[in-house]
Amino acid sequence: MTWPVAIARGWHPVALQRDLSPTRPLAVRLMGERLVVFRAGDQISVLRDHCPHRGAPLSHGRVKDGAIACPYHGWRFDPEGRCIEVPGALSCPNVRATALPIRLEAGLVWTSLGSPPAGFPSLPDAMSDDRMDRFWWTPDASDAGLLDALENHLDPAHPHILHPWLVRAPGRRRPTTVRVRTGPWGAEAVYEENRQNTALLSAVMEGRRSRSIGRLWPPTMGEVRLEAARGAMLSITVVFSPTDRGLTRPWAHFASTKGLTPAWVKEAALKLFHWPVLQQDRRMLRLQQANRTEERYAIGPLDVLAQAIWRHANGDPCPETETELIMHL
Ligand code: FES
Ligand SMILES: [Fe+2]
Repeated sequence: MTWPVAIARGWHPVALQRDLSPTRPLAVRLMGERLVVFRAGDQISVLRDHCPHRGAPLSHGRVKDGAIACPYHGWRFDPEGRCIEVPGALSCPNVRATALPIRLEAGLVWTSLGSPPAGFPSLPDAMSDDRMDRFWWTPDASDAGLLDALENHLDPAHPHILHPWLVRAPGRRRPTTVRVRTGPWGAEAVYEENRQNTALLSAVMEGRRSRSIGRLWPPTMGEVRLEAARGAMLSITVVFSPTDRGLTRPWAHFASTKGLTPAWVKEAALKLFHWPVLQQDRRMLRLQQANRTEERYAIGPLDVLAQAIWRHANGDPCPETETELIMHL
């Protein structure tokens, strides 16, 4: 089975810029390929984690004087992967470690294995909005299909069942008008909620909610925006990166309207509240992954973004459509 085309050619985060040390390279995996990310001075670089000399992993080496040194015979490679020194020799062979394309956006290091890479995806405004308190939360990869995890983040139908009282109160469903739009830009579902939140998480954080929005930023990002009646807004965007087949890493970006609560208090509270939710989602995604067959999924009446997620990933973006329906949320 191959990767969906937009994921195979797409751009994926491999590191938080702030996590890169000036001396220690970082070993990462993307679609099963081993890569090394390092900071050489003010330049950040992604190479295949494979020394062209005898194949040792460069990620076990050290970064010094603007180059990464292989841990075996010490050959040194500049950020473009060119060999610039062979210790003990007067010259260098004309070889290079394979360098990958790189983009630094929203505090992340992104790369692509595509040849050629796809265009860089549009990012949610919240990722660069300095009027909001923002932070990244980046748990480890876990057993999950990438598109299953993306759909899970945008899915309005499971929280009553999987996260009862934390995200949605069971037994208190109310009719909710939902407007769904799709297009080459992605897809969006707007839920007009207009009611007091009954579930723990949202009652504490928001009070009365006016609406929530689930938006697909193709091919691998989902943004959930919760808009409180008093005007505050919380945006949770998760970029899902394909570590390997059935192994997906979430890069979660939280942005919230600045208020009286200090940013670090909000960050601690949001992580604390979302920790059990994350564990519940991970457990279900792991069970789903272990139970996977080649059968196609059924599309249910509440799976309003599912088709768009699958189509964009497979290089077949949706046409412009607009529909309205009632859900009981
Ligand atoms: S294997 Fe890297 S320098 Fe020999
Ligand atoms: Fe969930």
